[in-house]
Amino acid sequence: MLIKKPSDIKSSEITSPELYRKRRQFIQAGVGLAGAAMVPGLWLPADVSAAREKLQGVKKSALSTDEKPTPYKDVTGYNNFYEFGTSKTDPARNAHSLKTKPWTVRVEGEVARPADYHLEDLVKDSLLEERIYRFRCVEAWSMVIPWVGISLASLIKRFEPTSRAKFVEFTTLYDPKQMPGQKRRVLNWPYVEGLRMDEAMNPLSILAVGLYGEVLPNQNGAPLRLMLPWKYGFKNIKSIVKIRFTETMPKTTWVLAGPREYGFYANVNPNVDHPRWSQARERVIGSGSIFTRRKKTLMFNGYEEQVAHLYAGMDLRKFF
Ligand code: MTE
Repeated sequence: MLIKKPSDIKSSEITSPELYRKRRQFIQAGVGLAGAAMVPGLWLPADVSAAREKLQGVKKSALSTDEKPTPYKDVTGYNNFYEFGTSKTDPARNAHSLKTKPWTVRVEGEVARPADYHLEDLVKDSLLEERIYRFRCVEAWSMVIPWVGISLASLIKRFEPTSRAKFVEFTTLYDPKQMPGQKRRVLNWPYVEGLRMDEAMNPLSILAVGLYGEVLPNQNGAPLRLMLPWKYGFKNIKSIVKIRFTETMPKTTWVLAGPREYGFYANVNPNVDHPRWSQARERVIGSGSIFTRRKKTLMFNGYEEQVAHLYAGMDLRKFF
């Protein structure tokens, strides 16, 4: 995410030497790949034919957008999942090494029911819904994705958070054998993300287990990933193995990597630019030719009515 636009500020002026060094490695890793990602068609997935499994009993949700979904090949072939490489085509090519069955999610921290939960047990007692959501990456591209997911709020209620639980932290699997990208220190592994409790409890917040009516492909974060459509894509952490309830704000991966560039809230906001590029417009992935369509980015990615109240009275330039 740090790789595409020329920088007009010296990173060394704003970050610690250690982070600066890491970021240089990061940029160098990305330079040769950014070009390939820009040529239309080159992000065709390597393994769309991998075994695909239909999900049963999926209900349509009234919270879906009526916009046309992005083609399946783009949703599953143009990805960010640095555990499998930093190029957009790497996840589809490499994520077959991830073993998603069996899968256990550890729930810990400020909850009455901490435990290791089998994923099937969490899913089988939940309503599976199709939620067609707009998806906006911080890199200024967007898609419309028909997720299949479960309500995050109803899941959280089952764990019975205590009154001290103010935030919820999510962690991705750490296993460099299955996730070879973790052998390179492009990010602090494992990937960690977090939400304020009221954000997590919003009716729009889901944990996705599928897309296009089928089990989630590995490159999209199988078997369980977060999806909050009003936030930049990087908040939507993939392949979750741990959910921890805390009193204090979690230290999240992208905030640690570049605190001036990536905030904890990461709400889509066309009025607050990334320090190195504008957030006013977005490139619509899958819309055709070399001249991929661009459109205006909407406040909270178009979900203002449902979520603006969560941030009432907050200075969104400070809490970006
Ligand atoms: N989760 C993990 N564990 N690792 C990642 O590299 N990338 C994030 C997010 N979740 C990422 C992650 C970013 S930057 C984006 S834009 C979305 O996943 C991409 O999701 P998609 O590939 O399903 O479109």
